[in-house]
Amino acid sequence: MSLRPLLLATAAALAVAGCAGKGGFYGAGEIGAQAAPAPSMVPLPRDVHSFARPEIARVHHVDLDLRADFDARRLSGKAALDILTAPGATEIVLDTRDLDIRGVTDASGRPLQYALGEAAGVRGRPLTVQIPAGARRIVVDYQTSPDAAALQWLTPAQTAGKRRPYLFSQGQAILTRSWVPTQDSPGIRQTYSARITVPEDLRAVMSAEQLTPNGQRVQGGRAYRFRLDQPVPPYLIALAVGDIEFGPLGPRSGVYTEPSMLDAAAAELVDTEKMIAAAEALYGPYRWGRYDLLVLPPSFPYGGMENPRLTFATPTIIAGDRSLTSLVAHELAHSWSGNLVTNAIWADSWLNEGFTTYFENRIMEALYGPERAAMEAALEYRTLQNSIAELPKGSPRSALKVEASATDPEEGGSTVIYEKGQAFLRTVEHTVGRERFDAWLRSYFDRHAFQPMTTEAMLADMRANLIRGDADLERRLQLNQWVYQPGVPGNVVVPKSTAFARVETEAKAWAAGSRPASALPWRSWTTQERQHFLASVPEKLTRAQLAELERSLGLASEGNSEVVFDWLQLAIKNRYDPAKPQIERFLLSQGRRKFVLPTFRNLMVQGEWGRPFARSLYERARPGYHPVTYTSVDAVVRGAAS
Ligand code: BES
Ligand code: ZN
Repeated sequence: MSLRPLLLATAAALAVAGCAGKGGFYGAGEIGAQAAPAPSMVPLPRDVHSFARPEIARVHHVDLDLRADFDARRLSGKAALDILTAPGATEIVLDTRDLDIRGVTDASGRPLQYALGEAAGVRGRPLTVQIPAGARRIVVDYQTSPDAAALQWLTPAQTAGKRRPYLFSQGQAILTRSWVPTQDSPGIRQTYSARITVPEDLRAVMSAEQLTPNGQRVQGGRAYRFRLDQPVPPYLIALAVGDIEFGPLGPRSGVYTEPSMLDAAAAELVDTEKMIAAAEALYGPYRWGRYDLLVLPPSFPYGGMENPRLTFATPTIIAGDRSLTSLVAHELAHSWSGNLVTNAIWADSWLNEGFTTYFENRIMEALYGPERAAMEAALEYRTLQNSIAELPKGSPRSALKVEASATDPEEGGSTVIYEKGQAFLRTVEHTVGRERFDAWLRSYFDRHAFQPMTTEAMLADMRANLIRGDADLERRLQLNQWVYQPGVPGNVVVPKSTAFARVETEAKAWAAGSRPASALPWRSWTTQERQHFLASVPEKLTRAQLAELERSLGLASEGNSEVVFDWLQLAIKNRYDPAKPQIERFLLSQGRRKFVLPTFRNLMVQGEWGRPFARSLYERARPGYHPVTYTSVDAVVRGAAS
């Protein structure tokens, strides 16, 4: 078949069933008859965040040959792109951002004409390459900018070991184009291979199979080779370079991190192998071979990032007591929801995050029991209620499917898609029964493995394979209400934790003055109970009350990042001066956006008490932060009028 009929077909005209089998937009069809990913069953919407026109020509494999120059803070070298073209195609459009393009050739080195379009903010610039008829491969010679949005180049001082520099990438959502010139859209899956040359004393790791774990000595450094045979969206191509060591956790899992952190990280993550087994028992085989983690230096801007075969994680989960490992369950779950079945465009990202947050909780329940899972779900449900309360009433931003804007897909990215998504699936689970729900979800992952997914196609699948025409069930589920309307529908199944009910009783007793903080069972509480306690005390507290909590609960020397975060927000909201040194330490010692951004935001609304403090502290802290974090915080601290 040719691509022509598909070019004419609109997404609406293509019923899901109608494009099953051969030839969705993103399928190989017979274009070139090369080995390429299986055809998509889901018609793809236009991606406003990408310049690519995959219906004319699309990338299906990326081969990188890059050298990391830590002095210049640049990656430089070549990206060879294997492409599929529709008959008559004369050009291919790639995404780039701040790349220095030195030339483009065909596979045999003959120069090809190319042009960089206008810069369009976070979307970067389209790179349009003229291709000869039947072209199968183009090669882009380029280097990255020292300010590449996806890359953070750390000085030795910014690492745990303090002796060697470090580099890591973060691709989601549309940052990969700042280090790889490719079609950077989550619906355009690509396999990849790479050779990364780094200084002799450093090691490179990627979200791929390591072909040369120890590297090979080459002119001016060491070269590491990688290959990922499963096609992935480009936001999952990831690289880290540093003084990195490996410690095994299980037969197919292990942890990479700086040598000084290895023992602590391995001890924290001991249950990883059990999590993989639990996830497989729930929703089918783990299809990526190994599952390793990379624990990054403290400036890593996210809690975790589900890079295939190699989850990237913040060191702030290393609490010493394994209390924050639900993050591992979360990133692991993305190996199904996200990496296997992938949001087609960023407006569908609740399919990645909502399904994953639900799946994460099921893994936690399987490993640690229903009470632990209920506590975590309850904490998250409260987060959801708070997020919705902060939005204007009826705001479309509390719908699951949030309309795509041509601006930054990360802008206004809220926790709603995580927690409301989870609440939605829990509600469906309870309505149809766990057994039936699990069978459907497992089959959904199988049916759509390695494919992009839209909100509409997911709902169609749920109707076809779970609801199966049961009109009463359809009415009770309120699917459209959940997905497209703001707020939380009335059929929501609210997580209930009996342990939390006891915590609330204690919080009330303390606030009423009938129980001193020293008599609270704080020491016997889990991290989740402690978090719930701090959320359950009144918002307005006196200085004496705060001092009592701080002293009796040992909060000034607390080591658990989540508990410290919750405590500091309470302190800031009550302008509790003695906490300022701890706020400083917290904001200077890690750069996780989830912690840093709200802390600065809360300081900035505290007038003369908070603003000058926040401003001067930010000047000191900012050089240690990742672009993802400082771009968000800039808008709050520097953008705000005094
Ligand atoms: N995929 C996300 C991280 C992400 C989201 C990166 C959007 C860029 C844009 C990852 O799986 C995630 O959700 N991480 C959370 C932790 C999780 C336990 C909720 C985080 O980083 O806080
Ligand atoms: Zn996630």
